[in-house]
Amino acid sequence: MDEVHTLKESFLKELNSARSLPDIRQLKIKYLGKKGMITSMLRNLTSIAPELRPEYGSRINDLKRLVSEEIEKKENILKTDEYKRLISSSTLDITLPGKFTPFGREHPVNKILSEIISIFVYMGFEVEEGPEVELDYYNFEALNIPKDHPARDMQDTFYISEEVVLRTHTSPVQIRVMENRRPPLNVIAPGKVYRCDSDISHTPMFHQVEGFMVDTDISFSHLKGVLESFIHSFFDLKTPVRFRPSYFPFTEPSAEVDIGCNFCSGNGCRVCKNTGWIEILGAGMINPHVFEMVGYDKNVYSGFAFGMGVERLVMLKFSIDDIRLFFENDLRFLRQF
Ligand code: DAH
Repeated sequence: MDEVHTLKESFLKELNSARSLPDIRQLKIKYLGKKGMITSMLRNLTSIAPELRPEYGSRINDLKRLVSEEIEKKENILKTDEYKRLISSSTLDITLPGKFTPFGREHPVNKILSEIISIFVYMGFEVEEGPEVELDYYNFEALNIPKDHPARDMQDTFYISEEVVLRTHTSPVQIRVMENRRPPLNVIAPGKVYRCDSDISHTPMFHQVEGFMVDTDISFSHLKGVLESFIHSFFDLKTPVRFRPSYFPFTEPSAEVDIGCNFCSGNGCRVCKNTGWIEILGAGMINPHVFEMVGYDKNVYSGFAFGMGVERLVMLKFSIDDIRLFFENDLRFLRQF
């Protein structure tokens, strides 16, 4: 009987001095392993006098239970200690805040460009694109602006070579589309354009949206209807719209379209130069010469075209007075949209 008691005492002593998980593992083997002390005691039960066996057996079993429980408890304590030690000795600080990933947002020009495109798509226009590095032929010649034409001076062109330019407007897309397709055509062409010009209202690169419609019976009324719908949808239903006679080589007749100044409600201010009106786009009926250049029968087809500057529309919509702000990448400016 004392044997069980002595074993218990020695176990508790050894447990108390166990300092590490390997120590505990050793203890487990020593007492509970296949050849462990408790295991062999149980095996030796048969050599005990039968009348003593039940009590002896149950005492050994009690000891076995106690040893298992105590080992488990101590194991948990040591594991927690070990974990704490690992955390404090490692360079990984799980209490540090995560890395902040800033979210970007759409540039105001792209935002408004998408808005313009969706208004025209809603009216049934398709979207086409053309190259930014363009042949002189498409940028000028085919648009009825021959080499010696004074209209070339209206646009300060970046020349790549004698025959290649950075497109000064999106109008060449009209020619490219008409060369490849037959009417009816209902197309807008958004994109970047380039001019050698820089001040408060000009940047060397800016965006335009070109638009045109060609079919057998297109009239100036269609042009007015489409542009008025666009302006009322983009600005406000009450925005006044005015068509003013103008000149472009690729349209005849041509017009410039003004809207009532939304800064002074038409009373006259610095922005509208006291006229009460602000010009927002150029337009007109496609010149028959242009149809001849793309091989369309000018007696069968008619069409209108228009072109607008996107930055200008963004400036009017958000009351911005310096176009250069769009391209300075100042986040304090860009975050406002
Ligand atoms: N391409 C012209 C410009 O950049 C704008 C323009 C005017 C386009 C009249 C047109 C148009 O299609 O009919 O100044």
